[in-house]
Amino acid sequence: MELHQLPSFLMERWFAEFEFVPGMRNLAASGPFAVTTRELLELEGAETTARYLELDLDYIENPGSESLRQAVANQYTTLDAGDLRITSGASEALFLLMWTMAAPGMNIVIEEPCYGSVPGIAQSLGIEVRTLSLRQEDGWRPDLEQLDRLIDGKTRLVYLVHPHNPTGSVLSKEEMQGIAEMTPLPSVVDVIKDAVSIGDMTKPWGLGGLRVGWVASRRHDLLDLISSSRDYSTMCSSAPGSFLAELALRHSAQIIAPRLAAARANRDQLAEAITNSQGALSWRRPAAGYTAFVQLPAHLSITALCRRLAREQRLLLLPGEVYGSVYERFVRIGFGCDPGLFQEGLATLLEAL
Ligand SMILES: Cc1ncc(COP(=O)(O)O)c(C=O)c1O
Repeated sequence: MELHQLPSFLMERWFAEFEFVPGMRNLAASGPFAVTTRELLELEGAETTARYLELDLDYIENPGSESLRQAVANQYTTLDAGDLRITSGASEALFLLMWTMAAPGMNIVIEEPCYGSVPGIAQSLGIEVRTLSLRQEDGWRPDLEQLDRLIDGKTRLVYLVHPHNPTGSVLSKEEMQGIAEMTPLPSVVDVIKDAVSIGDMTKPWGLGGLRVGWVASRRHDLLDLISSSRDYSTMCSSAPGSFLAELALRHSAQIIAPRLAAARANRDQLAEAITNSQGALSWRRPAAGYTAFVQLPAHLSITALCRRLAREQRLLLLPGEVYGSVYERFVRIGFGCDPGLFQEGLATLLEAL
């Protein structure tokens, strides 16, 4: 297999340039506002805090502890601990999955716009990347006939982000079923068996700093390959991160509820601003997730505007161009942040427009 350099990850380079500038107001993130360690520990009594302080900071097991894997499995309706491998965020899960599935002459299908890690890794491994363009006029949902034409006998992976980031569109169960039936892998016994789900503590819970993600699948042969590949990436997750992830999952609803309430209020504010813009701004209202993909007037250079807002107003947005030049009229707005911050940031953007 021919290896290439990893291409520049435009989105992450954008964040690297601006996200940690002091005073930056982040309206570009794809998750909710973060949780503090104190908040997590206070969800339980002194006994949990004591256990955390006594936690051994040695290596932990490569697949993740049985109890954390079971807690993650409980987020699904039909999985158990054996169907899970914990990773360092979804980032490592995607990396290992691509590394494990790579083979000469194979291809993968991705949606566009798409988070850049899977296509970037595929490109570095010499795997052909086929793209299924999503369009605002289709509600940012995949055209299944076009997808069917892209898939062939050498397709190793159809990579779908659901809810879709940045547009917030969701797939129906029928659409998922339809897509699974297009995949002509000889080992398909039933549609569920070959599905791989990647998730993380970042998006729903606001715990990106724990670096805990996972791969879930009934294909245990694939999970074993992922564990073997992990011997070369991080070997295991961080012990404190895993402890706190398990604690958070015991109180999942309590952590998510205020974040969803803030996101819904922010999304309503954004909807109002778009309605009042009399056609200057347009979108397909996101059905889920914490991001919206908003189209701005054609005469503007959006990337230059975002750069100016970050430098001069300390307001961070994500220009659609990081997803490819066809999205240069769009901006990703993250509405998972604190409502006061969102209101302030939105006002700054509207004023600039
Ligand atoms: C679609 C998508 N996948 C993966 C990631 C990486 O997630 P993690 O923080 O779990 O590594 C992100 C981060 O924003 C993302 O938006």
